[in-house]
Amino acid sequence: MKRRKPVRASDGLANVRYEIRGKLARRALTLERQGYDIVSLNIGNPYAFGFRTPETMRLAMIENLRNSEGYVHQKGIFPAREAVVMQQQERGVRGVTAEEVFIGNGVSELIDLALRALLNAGDEVLVPSPDYPLWSAAVNLNGGRAVHYPCHAARSFIPDPDEIESLITKRTRAIVIVNPNNPTGAVYPRETLTAIARLAEKHRLVVLCDEIYDHILYDDAKFVPMATLVHDTLCCTMSGLSKVYRACGYRVGWASFSGDVEGAAEYLSGLELLSSLRLCSNVPGQWAVQTALGGYQSILELTRPGGRLYESRAAIIEGVARSKYLELSRPMGALYAFVQVRSEVLPDFDDQAFALDLLDRKHVLVAPGVSFNVAYRNAFRITNLPEPEVIATVFTRIEELLDAQGAEGPDLKIVSAAAQVRQH
Ligand SMILES: Cc1ncc(COP(=O)(O)O)c(C=O)c1O
Repeated sequence: MKRRKPVRASDGLANVRYEIRGKLARRALTLERQGYDIVSLNIGNPYAFGFRTPETMRLAMIENLRNSEGYVHQKGIFPAREAVVMQQQERGVRGVTAEEVFIGNGVSELIDLALRALLNAGDEVLVPSPDYPLWSAAVNLNGGRAVHYPCHAARSFIPDPDEIESLITKRTRAIVIVNPNNPTGAVYPRETLTAIARLAEKHRLVVLCDEIYDHILYDDAKFVPMATLVHDTLCCTMSGLSKVYRACGYRVGWASFSGDVEGAAEYLSGLELLSSLRLCSNVPGQWAVQTALGGYQSILELTRPGGRLYESRAAIIEGVARSKYLELSRPMGALYAFVQVRSEVLPDFDDQAFALDLLDRKHVLVAPGVSFNVAYRNAFRITNLPEPEVIATVFTRIEELLDAQGAEGPDLKIVSAAAQVRQH
């Protein structure tokens, strides 16, 4: 038979990774199909853990389904954009009108569009490490170069503005801030954000703030919206319905622009052009935005003591405290903990091999640290979305595995895990 020329993927994908939904997740699916119960802690999908979208949002969407059958404005429906404007006004952000608000198919789409409208080949964007990997991927896919600024565990994963400034070059166009942070759970203090705002203004960097976890805060953590601090350069604030409102399937996110909007007129026209090319984003979920942002915020029931997210986070903190091997910077916001394995106890620990072993032997799926663009290999991320009892069981299984790993020696474990991947 004639050999056909294979269909190759674009070279542009060579640097692009999204391991959270990669090889490990596929292996978990295989095990599930074989009949195993897998505890999947690798992904922040509230629905998968029994959370529901607030009923009023569902009703708002259903009530407006008949108004959702046509294309709408490329920036989104007016009531949704206006609700975002009001939220920004209440926070003290000046000068945002519905003109400066774009609704997208989740924050994910807006990350891509915002970067595509901005970057020329070789432009640099400062992205945190550990990162939410879509940011690095989208920079690279759009011809830019993600330059990672480290957020050190020793500083509770709070970035150091001086270290960030030392990475700025003539090619740097923007800085990404994810606050509250995925994967670390860090919530940045006002002083840090102010210092970053000043250096962004000094170097004319666009500030891209991913604030999708803005209301998911624990204990005395305070969220400071970056847009309240940035005045003299362009600031883009992104958020959406996926996390705080537990509606990730609706695929609704928004980006609002503040600060030096005037100086960014050409950029914003470019973004509007890209938005027009995809006509508009999914319409039904847009009708839920106004209901979501106004009035009572049910997320607060979940994040205070006694609430499901609070108690599950407590179970993670307890699980780590009881462990001989693990340490943790207490997550103060978002839906994750970035757990570290103490290198002095298990010096040869390998996050990927561990994650595979944990899946194969203990049927728990976590995201290895390497998925978040870090230079070290002793971390993994889990979500606090499951019930506290499930988290407690997971930490028992992790400890058993690490006990075995300590006893057997790391080399043996790494080889066994790698061999299992090759088989599948
Ligand atoms: C920091 C961060 N930004 C963006 C997203 C994507 O959100 P969306 O569902 O709105 O596309 C996520 C999803 O996990 C996230 O953690």
